[in-house]
Amino acid sequence: MGNVKLSSMGKRVRKIDGVELVTGRAKFAGDMKFPGMLYGYARRAGVPAGIIKKRDVRTALKIPEVAMVLLAEDIPGPNIIGILPPFDQPLLAAEEIRYEGESIALVVAKTKTAAKEGALAIEVEIDPLEPILEPDEALKKGARKIHPAGNITYSKKLIKGDIDKGFKEAELVVENTYHTSFQEHAYLEPEAVCAVPCGDGRVTVYASCQSPFHLRGHIAANLSVPASRVRVVQAYTGGSFGGKDDVAAEIGSLAAVASVKLGLPVMIAHEREESIKGSNLRHASRIHYKTGARRDGTIVACKIEIILDGGAYSSESPFVTMKSLIHAAGPYRIPNILVECTSVYTNKTYCGAFRGFGVPQVTFASESQMDELASRLKMDPLKLRRKNALKPGDATATGQVFERSVGLLQTIDKIEERRKSSDLPRDREDDRWLYGRGFSCMLQGISNGAEGIDVVGASVQVSQDGSVLLGVGLTDMGQGSRTVFAQVAAEVLGVTVDRVTVRQVDTDSVHDSGPTVASRSTTVGGMAVFKAAAEVKKSLQKMASLMFKAGEEQVSFKNNFASLKQDDSARIPLREVAAAAYWSGFPLMNLAFSRAPDADFDHETHQGDIYIAYNFGTHMMDIRIDRFTGRVQVLQHIASHDLGRVINLTGVEGQVEGGSLIGFGFAHMEKIESEGGSITNANFADYAVPTVKDRIPTETICVEDYNPTGAFGAKGIGEPPVAGAASAFANAVAAATGVRFTKLPITKEDILKAGGKHGRYSH
Ligand code: MTE
Ligand code: MOS
Repeated sequence: MGNVKLSSMGKRVRKIDGVELVTGRAKFAGDMKFPGMLYGYARRAGVPAGIIKKRDVRTALKIPEVAMVLLAEDIPGPNIIGILPPFDQPLLAAEEIRYEGESIALVVAKTKTAAKEGALAIEVEIDPLEPILEPDEALKKGARKIHPAGNITYSKKLIKGDIDKGFKEAELVVENTYHTSFQEHAYLEPEAVCAVPCGDGRVTVYASCQSPFHLRGHIAANLSVPASRVRVVQAYTGGSFGGKDDVAAEIGSLAAVASVKLGLPVMIAHEREESIKGSNLRHASRIHYKTGARRDGTIVACKIEIILDGGAYSSESPFVTMKSLIHAAGPYRIPNILVECTSVYTNKTYCGAFRGFGVPQVTFASESQMDELASRLKMDPLKLRRKNALKPGDATATGQVFERSVGLLQTIDKIEERRKSSDLPRDREDDRWLYGRGFSCMLQGISNGAEGIDVVGASVQVSQDGSVLLGVGLTDMGQGSRTVFAQVAAEVLGVTVDRVTVRQVDTDSVHDSGPTVASRSTTVGGMAVFKAAAEVKKSLQKMASLMFKAGEEQVSFKNNFASLKQDDSARIPLREVAAAAYWSGFPLMNLAFSRAPDADFDHETHQGDIYIAYNFGTHMMDIRIDRFTGRVQVLQHIASHDLGRVINLTGVEGQVEGGSLIGFGFAHMEKIESEGGSITNANFADYAVPTVKDRIPTETICVEDYNPTGAFGAKGIGEPPVAGAASAFANAVAAATGVRFTKLPITKEDILKAGGKHGRYSH
């Protein structure tokens, strides 16, 4: 596969669903309309902690348009949601309240307004409990238990080498504590589902979602029916970024229960406030980081303690804990590492998956440490990174050794070249602006690996007209994976991309492929498409060889034609080959699986083979800061990533730009404010996310160090830029101001307040 000449790989291909999306033809869940459709709206707790004393729905039911009110006891199944053990989250709370956004009842009515009115009319009495709002309080001896098992959600260690010996060898120690805040996904489209009873005992749920099979599992369980009675169809999804896994399961289950009970379609579409308060956030973190190095810059030891604030429920905290743990030491060759990572329950909105999955937080800490170490050593920051950078054959923090596709040094080379040629002002001041340049290196494990089984199913069907229909169990939430899958099939079958159609995920017709997370689609999903297409190609090859009266090995396919390798003028349109193959009874459809090798590691120490590949990256960011306002302007941002092989260059750039902007928001702007356990800025007027006006000038440089575990050598790029951009930003601010900010976000107010080597900036 490594040496084949590729016709469409690496090129710029337009999103196959781009036209539908930009013309507004694409149907999102909230656009759906069915005869008799009703609307659901949840009554939320409104207090962060307490015991429910009363839920009286009589007044709500008196509202003429209200059709039904669902309470916990009306849920036929276990009334539980949650992706992983411990399954600790009720669908509707009946006893204890653990965060303000917790749903207590669902009101279903003819209009959304009436449903909302009904929700407010429910009389709820809650005996308040003193909320536990900080992990330290939760961890105190004798603290009230938020869950029966205690206040620790998940706690793990990574032990490599001998940490004490490592620090004895160190000639220099850098030690700091870092903090990062919660972050909201802020997708354009808030969560929405529409459940439609089918009359045959089945229910179809159209959902804005990320992992339709999770959704199906939750809905079936809460309906108390076999999974085969539930059909989930992914509607076009206006962004998810890790955020729609839990919430789609919650509102999907509620809508399905209501619709089955009433025999009518039920839609639940969140408002922005519900989306912020009632669905998962990025974990806030506190990271204590101690780095030991020799005078020549060789890092010999890292000791890291991470506390994640996971909020009220476990959600995907176990995955985030593992990812933080595994990535905390950065992309470096360090012989002695000790990391402890603990996720803690608090009475706040629960935290879960968010683009990067725990990696942006720890990368901010590790890359700040690298710059601090460089400045103590009076060494160039990029030189220090290069000196310690992982190379092929080196052991990662988990002791895993990759012989191939470790392109970190190449990404550093690319950035070094740009640094030399770049004529932007840096480390320079004028009356108004302070200038600074920051670097970061990072790695991000691709696909589930350590976190669980890693299987994707894909089906490829060639019609008699030579067109191709693809089904993959992974969703496109905007990242462009449908286009990537189309390209992979087109490449294998020798058809043009416009001849390939990729269906929206429908759980009735594709194989369960697990969750669409961890940047796994291109790598693991692409491999499944590759295999399925290669199987179908065998039939076409056999047929074409009969038609040409030549050996199968002499036949090739390109641009919708079969031809002979030695004589390109002998061509048969693919549709003729496909039709003949059909009439000869050669199979034209295949369902194939890509199964990544199981992770193999020690759960006590996290030593072993954890991921099938890593994406590596180096970023450089130039900024200038307005002394009078603290405003930061990004002048240049270059992101160089080793992504194995580019499949769609336009898609890669889109992912790098979008991911970097999320990283920039995380590092500079976004801050969930709360008072007494209540979020006070649950809207986009007060919670600032980067808008199109804040776009940063990101340039993408692709390093292609072939990855044997991905389709055509590719590795995912969906999440990695977040960590790279956020960390480079923090280092650029430190370079410009001379102040090391140990807390994200570093807002313009923070910068103004901090002063620094240049005196008060406002002077
Ligand atoms: N890009 C867009 N436009 N919308 C999204 O919701 N999700 C991100 C990333 N890029 C997302 C996105 C997250 S969290 C992940 S894990 C990956 O895409 C998943 O897609 P991939 O497997 O195709 O990389
Ligand atoms: Mo992405 S956070 O892995 O869904």
